[in-house]
Amino acid sequence: MSSVATQTAAALSRGTADLGKTAAKVSAFGYPPAVIAFWRTQVRRALKGGAATPFYLFSAQPVAAAMAQLTALDLGRPAVHWLSTKTQPLPALLLWWRNQGRPAEVVSEAEFRLVQAAGFTTDSILVNGPAKQRWLGPFSSPGLRVNFDSLRELDSLLPWAKRDRWRVGLRLCTAEEFDPESPQFPTQFGLTPSEALLAVRRLKRAGLPVETLHFHLRTQVASADCYRRALDELAAFANAAGLSPRHLDIGGGLPSRNALSRGGKRLDAGISMAAFALTVRQAVKQFPSVEEVWLENGRFVSAGSGVLVVRVLDVKERRGLRQLICDGGRTLNALVSVWEQHELLPLRAGGGPEVLTAVHGPTCMAFDQLARKPLARSIRPGQPLLWFDAGAYHLPWETRFSHGLAEVWWHEDSRLARVRAAESPMLSAA
Ligand SMILES: Cc1ncc(COP(=O)(O)O)c(C=O)c1O
Repeated sequence: MSSVATQTAAALSRGTADLGKTAAKVSAFGYPPAVIAFWRTQVRRALKGGAATPFYLFSAQPVAAAMAQLTALDLGRPAVHWLSTKTQPLPALLLWWRNQGRPAEVVSEAEFRLVQAAGFTTDSILVNGPAKQRWLGPFSSPGLRVNFDSLRELDSLLPWAKRDRWRVGLRLCTAEEFDPESPQFPTQFGLTPSEALLAVRRLKRAGLPVETLHFHLRTQVASADCYRRALDELAAFANAAGLSPRHLDIGGGLPSRNALSRGGKRLDAGISMAAFALTVRQAVKQFPSVEEVWLENGRFVSAGSGVLVVRVLDVKERRGLRQLICDGGRTLNALVSVWEQHELLPLRAGGGPEVLTAVHGPTCMAFDQLARKPLARSIRPGQPLLWFDAGAYHLPWETRFSHGLAEVWWHEDSRLARVRAAESPMLSAA
């Protein structure tokens, strides 16, 4: 192994956040040089192999590194990690995940079909999400695991649940759940405690015990205290309802490790893995019946597992700002850049003095701006740029605004292959 490869493997397996504390020179986003070198190497390989920009390059290696961090946590009971399929609905990742012997969580018919096609069995699929009465009935099978989200949904699906003896759970809307943009308002998910009490009674009448109590707070949860308060609420509810759940499903929400808010703050600044584990370990003592803690982390698991590669098509300069117009950008490929800052670097390191530069996509929207930051003045049309942390919520939010969908490349065990061709704009217009 080359020294870069050795350092990269070490960086990825230790988790980049931890390495960030010890490495001499780490980017503001927490990436040690070895990780940046890893991505540059894989992007060069993809380009040599015929990749055409814009393209996403995803790798199993950072997912394995994130899972190593998660599985090292002592949560007080055995943990089960469900893949949040919606976060990165990529068949290659699903196959890799299934081969690790891990299960998948889905919230829609499309995701259900995707995990079935990837070979997940009934036992390794958890069905979540609102308004499932719209699609789930015809997919019913014996022992299906379903977390109910509302009373109407429960009533509509009860005939299937009874027939096939579903293993059921309830999603509660805890006081911790609110719309992050308007925190005075609750989210639309789950059952209030009084609705959940009715649900418990209806399921009892149907002979179906509530096996799972579930919440998903939101994404990028800022502090372990949010989990503690939600777990306390679940414990109070379980007591009031006389429930002895077998599983506590605490959803996802752990923040990405290498992204900043638009204001420049690290998104994981207020929550350490140790504090998260301690919180769960202590709270779980309130649930003597619980055999397993379930987690459904999306961003934490896959955000760092990909880059978006775009190519500079044109350069403009006006009012003191250098502007790079690229063949991919926010509108098409990186909606997440609306509320997060990610590392963005040219494929070629170095490049001399830097100047304030805005990186734009090719669509007719001023909104189409991937980053505004100092970049080398020497960057010219034709050069590729790497937008980091593109492994969560990029594929599902891709658009066809004036163009087709991008190519996708997958890296696993040093193999690199195109797993999705670019979509022809003609086809998408048809
Ligand atoms: C029910 C459920 N579980 C898990 C997740 C994954 O969330 P995150 O990517 O923040 O970990 C989501 C995301 O919306 C969700 O709705």
